[in-house]
Formats: sequence, C-alpha cells, structure tokens
Amino acid sequence: MTRNPPKIQIEAFDIAEWEMDAEFGVFPQGARAKEAVFAPAQPPDTVLLPGHRYLFKRSKRSYPDQFWGEVVAYRIGCLLGVEVPPAFVAWNSKTGISAALIEWFYVDGREAFVMAGDLLLKIRPDFDRDLGTRHNMKDNSVLLRALAQAKLLQTNWRQWWVDSLLFDALIGNTDRHQDNWGLIFHPEGCRPAPLFDNGTSLGHERFPDRVGHWSDQELNRYIAKGTHHVRWNLDDAVPLRSHLVLLERAMSEWPDTYSVAKERLDFPAAELAHCFADLMTLNIPVRLSSERHTFMLRLLNRRHALLRSLFK
Ligand SMILES: Nc1ncnc2c1ncn2[C@@H]1O[C@H](COP(=O)(O)OP(=O)(O)OP(=O)(O)O)[C@@H](O)[C@H]1O
Ligand SMILES: [Mg+2]
Repeated sequence: MTRNPPKIQIEAFDIAEWEMDAEFGVFPQGARAKEAVFAPAQPPDTVLLPGHRYLFKRSKRSYPDQFWGEVVAYRIGCLLGVEVPPAFVAWNSKTGISAALIEWFYVDGREAFVMAGDLLLKIRPDFDRDLGTRHNMKDNSVLLRALAQAKLLQTNWRQWWVDSLLFDALIGNTDRHQDNWGLIFHPEGCRPAPLFDNGTSLGHERFPDRVGHWSDQELNRYIAKGTHHVRWNLDDAVPLRSHLVLLERAMSEWPDTYSVAKERLDFPAAELAHCFADLMTLNIPVRLSSERHTFMLRLLNRRHALLRSLFK
C-alpha cells in the first residue's frame, strides 16, 4: 500500500471571480448548500487543476466551521492511503462565505458517477432511499460481486470496503449512507468513487467551549456512541453499526483484507498532529480555531489507539 502525499495549499483561495457552473448552480443533491465552480486556466496555486470543476461546499447552518472537517478528512485519507477527493479551504470575498473546495472526481462526458443508492434500489426495490434504513453490507456485497463477476469492476471491493470502514472509524463518520459512496462508470467498466462527503465526522456537532474540558471517560463515551450508517446484515437481531465492531466483522469475513488495513494504521501517532496543523494558519472569515483543532486531534488520537488495538 502507498500513502498519498496531500496537496497542501499555501493560502485560502478566493473564488469570487471564478466561473460558476450554471448547470450545478443550485446543486440538487444533498443537505448542505453548495455550488460548483471552475478553477481559472492559470490557477493561483499548483495544487489546483487548471479549468477543473470544484465543489464549493458550505457548512450546515448550525455548525459554521463544519467545512473544515472535509479538509481534515482529506488529510487523514492521505495518511491512511485511501482515496479521498482533494479538499481545500476557500471563501468568496463578495459574499463572505467560507467553505470547502473539493476537486471533482470524474471526467465529464467520458465518465458517469452513479450513487450506490441507484444500484441498490435495483437489487432491493423496497430500499428506503430517504433514510437508508436498509443499507447493509450483504446487499452491498451482492452488488459489487455481480459487477466483479461481469468483469466490469476490477477493484478488490472487499479491501475497498474494509479501507472505507477504517477511514470512517478513524474520523468518526456517521453518514456513509447509500448515496455517499458510489461507482464511476467509464467505457471499460467501473471503479469505486473516492470517498466523498466526509464532513459529518470529527466531532463537528460539538462546540469546543463545551467539550474542551472533557475527561478521558467522557471522550470514550462519546466515541463509543458513534456508529456507521451501514449495518452488516438486515437479519441481525441487533443492527451491527458500531464503527469498530463493523470493521472487525468485515475483516473476519474477509481475512485477506486484514494485513493492508493493519499497515494503513501503522504510522506514528505524531503524524496525526502534523498532518493538519498548517490549516490553522489559513486566513478566511471562518478560521480553524486552535480549540477546534485540539478537539479533532484528541478524537483522532483516541480513535487511532482504539483501532490499533484491534490488530494486536
Ligand atoms: N468531488 C466530487 N466530484 C463529483 N461529484 C461530487 C463530488 N462531491 C460530491 N459530489 C456529488 O454531489 C453530491 C452531494 O455532495 P455531498 O454528498 O458531498 O454533499 P451532501 O450530501 O449535501 O452533504 P451532507 O449530506 O453532508 O449535507 C454527491 O452525492 C455526489 O453526487
Ligand atoms: Mg452526501
């Protein structure tokens, strides 16, 4: 496995003069306000792709600094070596809005993105798309196995899911529902999309002034309550959703995935602190406060330790 060096911006980008994508002007999918914009032909920083589409994705209204989570999650994805769309911070100097700026992950015209929910509905016509109460790994496996058997999907999908569960467990993502993962189709077949929509994580719904004094026990209790969106099996009497238990279950079902998952976690804990400290220097209206940074780091360190203990 390889870790991906992150693309690191030197300054926050101001997108006020960037071309808006009229087609995605009011983006129809999802809960948070977002627009699509095109980077200039000569971008202000080499980490940006010239003329490429980016999603300008704001925070939920009640959590103004939530968008930072998308950027931190990208850095964590790089550390683990799992694919997450590059995410930056940006603002619009005409409106004063700060948001995450996320690289578009497929090529228009040549490729098409299909959310897993669209495909799962075909397997299970009673799939409850609104709440995703039937989102489960057994159906996900049926879908991905069928694509692999038809030679449309070459990716080791079991490893992909274990890696995704590992990533979600480390950032504490509770929102990987059927429309927050999917497949990119191209003329020769398909591949899983990079892990997008990672902002419902990292304790974003807690205010640092209320959690800064938490004891280790309080932190542990909070982490233990975190669940993944997917469950293992619809028939389980008690839905299996705890981040750690779900990951363990997946690795026991697919033992070949264990060693790569172990290797992904095998970085010095200090890397967690290093990998996103630079974000606090970026100057936009809604900054990453040191209190928010400290809380995210505390959660990450603890979750990293808990995950590592699964591999002893
Ligand atoms: N980097 C990207 N490249 C291409 N398409 C994307 C990208 N990020 C998101 N999308 C598309 O936009 C849709 C909405 O984005 P996303 O899931 O991040 O936001 P959301 O669902 O509104 O977030 P939330 O539910 O947390 O408010 C996705 O379902 C996907 O179809
Ligand atoms: Mg989404």
